Amino acid sequence: MCGIVGYVGKRSVIPVLLEGLRRLEYRGYDSAGIAIINEGRLEVIRALGKLIQLQEILDSYAARPKGIGLGHTRWATHGEPSQANAHPHRDCTGEVVVVHNGIIENYHALRQELEAQGHVFTSQTDTEVIPHLIEEELKHTNDLLRAVGQALKRVEGAYAIGVLWLRDPKTLVAARNQSPLVIGLGEGENFIASDIPAVLPWTNKVLFLDDGEIALLRAEQCQLFRLDDLTPVTKEPKVVNWDASMAEKAGYKHFMLKEIYEQPQAILNTFRGRLDPETAEVDIPEIQLSPEEIKALNKICILACGTSYHAGLVAKYLLERWAQLPVEVDLGSEFRYRDFLLDERSLVIPISQSGETADTLASLRRARQTGAKAIAICNVLGSTLTRETDGTIYTHAGPEIGVASTKAFTSQLTALLLLTLYFGKIRGHLGQDQARRIIRGLVQLPQQLEGLLQTVHPLIQDMAYDYHRKQHFLYLGRNILFPVALEGALKLKEISYIHAEGYAAGEMKHGPIALIDEDMPVVVLAPRNHHVYEKMISNIEEVRSRRGQILAFGTEGDEALEKLANHTVLLPECEWELSPILYTVPLQLLAYEVAVIRGCDVDQPRNLAKSVTVE
Ligand code: AGP
Repeated sequence: MCGIVGYVGKRSVIPVLLEGLRRLEYRGYDSAGIAIINEGRLEVIRALGKLIQLQEILDSYAARPKGIGLGHTRWATHGEPSQANAHPHRDCTGEVVVVHNGIIENYHALRQELEAQGHVFTSQTDTEVIPHLIEEELKHTNDLLRAVGQALKRVEGAYAIGVLWLRDPKTLVAARNQSPLVIGLGEGENFIASDIPAVLPWTNKVLFLDDGEIALLRAEQCQLFRLDDLTPVTKEPKVVNWDASMAEKAGYKHFMLKEIYEQPQAILNTFRGRLDPETAEVDIPEIQLSPEEIKALNKICILACGTSYHAGLVAKYLLERWAQLPVEVDLGSEFRYRDFLLDERSLVIPISQSGETADTLASLRRARQTGAKAIAICNVLGSTLTRETDGTIYTHAGPEIGVASTKAFTSQLTALLLLTLYFGKIRGHLGQDQARRIIRGLVQLPQQLEGLLQTVHPLIQDMAYDYHRKQHFLYLGRNILFPVALEGALKLKEISYIHAEGYAAGEMKHGPIALIDEDMPVVVLAPRNHHVYEKMISNIEEVRSRRGQILAFGTEGDEALEKLANHTVLLPECEWELSPILYTVPLQLLAYEVAVIRGCDVDQPRNLAKSVTVE
């Protein structure tokens, strides 16, 4: 995701834009830029890197124009981080300028159409089609609002945009579809921003644009309209009473909690544009392998560390089931020292949120020496990992600030499920009905998670309070939920500093059962529709008979499980393939709430770093 800001009023505009961008930098920080109208000229100043790079350029910028401007801080989705790909973007005349947060799904087709009309593009971004579409409309009207409205009717996908036009220098037009946009209402001035923090220094009176709405802003004017027919929309302003620190976390106490709650959107953003629920078709253009190469694959080798490794373990169950491929998953720090067996018919899949993890990179480099092909799963466009593979399936989770990985993990699981569907269909092991079943479940998942977060969070808070003083936890799962047990344990230990182990439940009798007593909380994952459910119940009985404390996560209506457990959290039924995503979220919340009660630094736990770029 990116951060956009806009201003129209009487102030010196550069300081306003920079302060607004500084408060949105958590939304993206690979490049930044502003557009201002100075002495009759529309000027765009952009810089690669964090906002400080732009600030340094502007410090030596002599002009101090007043009145109107746009700003943008970028989290690259299409087009690597570069000055040319930094926003704002202009049309051919140089008189229309746009900042955008979101993903334009049909930008390829629009760009081809516009280039055929003679438009010249200067970036690789999806965004750049918007100013050129507006330019076309301004050939038929002098009304900027109308031109923007007409242009956006051609656009499919998510956007929050700000638009300026040199020939109407007192007007700022903004519009929204599926990406957030707030309007700040001042005295003789108005603001737009991706998020509340960016307007708080000047006003706490705000309006929220809804999907399909467009706004016309001038210093003394703020009018909202329906995008489709420009009928006026009336809304009551709201007053925000956040302090600045809370504001950058959008009201959440920690970035980690904010990112847990962003998972429905992150999962939606990751599968959006890559599947068609009607036809059950999956399209992943980033995979540069032909159907013949995919059919000829003899092995998949997944390389990753930490949470990303757990995502790889889940993928093993999926790919073996539906792509009928042998899958090996190894830790980056181990694989690189092994005598592994790969060849040119093997596919290596490195998974990394940051794309900078040294162990994963080192293993990938060794693996590539065998002639194996490589496709990365990564959250950071243009990161080192993405430049060393044959293709990258990006997770569109947006920046993950909390050190403990949450939305990146469930987005990785989403991307790996898409890969499984894609391979399974090409290799002929995934039928249309199965594909429809899984895709139907995936499309419903964001909404299911929204509901789950609301209903389950209070229950988790109670559970956390009862067990936050424990010194040890055991997490048990079977089959595709065994990696989720590992992930739940990692979340708890890395932010609350409680010792926690994830285990395959079937392994209990081979050792860990010696640990069980009334002081040992045992988290068990037992969805009723899994083929190993009865086995899980047996394991729960084993724990219970040794007075272990059972914290059970299961399926709504499972009274038998409730009778066996000390605490039970019941989740909606879901497809086997989606259960790792659904069952991870409450475990993230459990780790978070325990850490908060214990007074730990949730976003920056001791001894840890967000990206481990050393070996
Ligand atoms: C996860 O919560 C941890 N922060 C850590 O295990 C992380 O997953 C690991 O360092 C891998 O990072 P990457 O995904 O950026 O490669």
